[in-house]
Amino acid sequence: MTEINPYLPEPATILETIQETPTIKTFRVRLDDPAKMRSFSFQPGQVGQLSVFGAGEATFVINSSPTRLDHLQFSVMRAGEVTSRLHGLAAGDKVGVRAPLGNHFPYEAMKGRDIVFIGGGIGMAPLRTLLLFMLDNRADYGKISLLYGARSPVDMAFKADLPDWTARSDMTTVLTIDREAEGWEHTVGLIPNVLLEMAPSPDNAVAVTCGPPIMIKFTLQALKRLGFGDEQIYTTLEKRMKCGVGLCGRCNIGAKYVCVDGPVFSYAQLRELPNEL
Ligand SMILES: Cc1cc2nc3c(=O)[nH]c(=O)nc-3n(C[C@H](O)[C@H](O)[C@H](O)COP(=O)(O)OP(=O)(O)OC[C@H]3O[C@@H](n4cnc5c(N)ncnc54)[C@H](O)[C@@H]3O)c2cc1C
Ligand code: FES
Repeated sequence: MTEINPYLPEPATILETIQETPTIKTFRVRLDDPAKMRSFSFQPGQVGQLSVFGAGEATFVINSSPTRLDHLQFSVMRAGEVTSRLHGLAAGDKVGVRAPLGNHFPYEAMKGRDIVFIGGGIGMAPLRTLLLFMLDNRADYGKISLLYGARSPVDMAFKADLPDWTARSDMTTVLTIDREAEGWEHTVGLIPNVLLEMAPSPDNAVAVTCGPPIMIKFTLQALKRLGFGDEQIYTTLEKRMKCGVGLCGRCNIGAKYVCVDGPVFSYAQLRELPNEL
């Protein structure tokens, strides 16, 4: 087995890009060393550092599924220097990949339980990897529901996945936007309100949520109203990272390092951390 060194960026080639929204671009990449690509493995929720030569590196969740390893997928929202340079790249261009880093969703402990995914905007990225993994191991899980929201239809990412997710009979998918828009045939309403209307049962269920801080705040309140306990709710943190391997101290919250103890935390674990988020 060819070992991958998490301290060194592996040269990789962009196979394909998808302009998801005006500010989110998806990159499908493959490591240039075929032996390293063949032996690459990761767990749903783990992240990678993508580097643009001459610009630096930034952290993104690997949002493809470990059950589909012909490429690694990252979806990048434009924020500053590195992400803007990434948005300028196209198929055939080179990037560096340091991965996999961090912990993962406890998908083993979730077996046999109902799963409620609640994603907002680019926060759908970490959910996508776990959702695809569960759909590829469908018999292991109970009911699967997805609530995915964006501000407007144009801000909705992963459009290539949506026809499959909405058509499948083995999951329930609700897509929502904040305000009415011409041609929109799905739900209209803010994610926490739509979640309360969906009213998933907390019995033997786990909720996995990721999105902007304001959405998370009100989604947590909605989940509590529905009866979900702190240990039944998982999210991922996006505290800025540098080394990614627990050495530089850049990503700490109290005694925890997001890069090695996270980015996945249960709400019960988050409540134990100092309020620095
Ligand atoms: C564990 C983890 C997973 C992530 N997954 C994804 C993902 O899948 N897709 C994605 O688009 N982004 C993701 N991010 C965020 C992404 O890493 C940052 O947007 C990126 O590092 C910005 O780099 P930049 O050089 O373009 O911007 P910079 O020039 O470094 O920053 C531009 C602006 O964004 C702010 N900023 C930068 N990073 C963060 C951050 N982590 N949290 C809040 N504000 C920030 C800066 O303060 C500044 O205002 C993730 C971050 C972490 C830590
Ligand atoms: S990023 Fe260096 S310790 Fe976490």
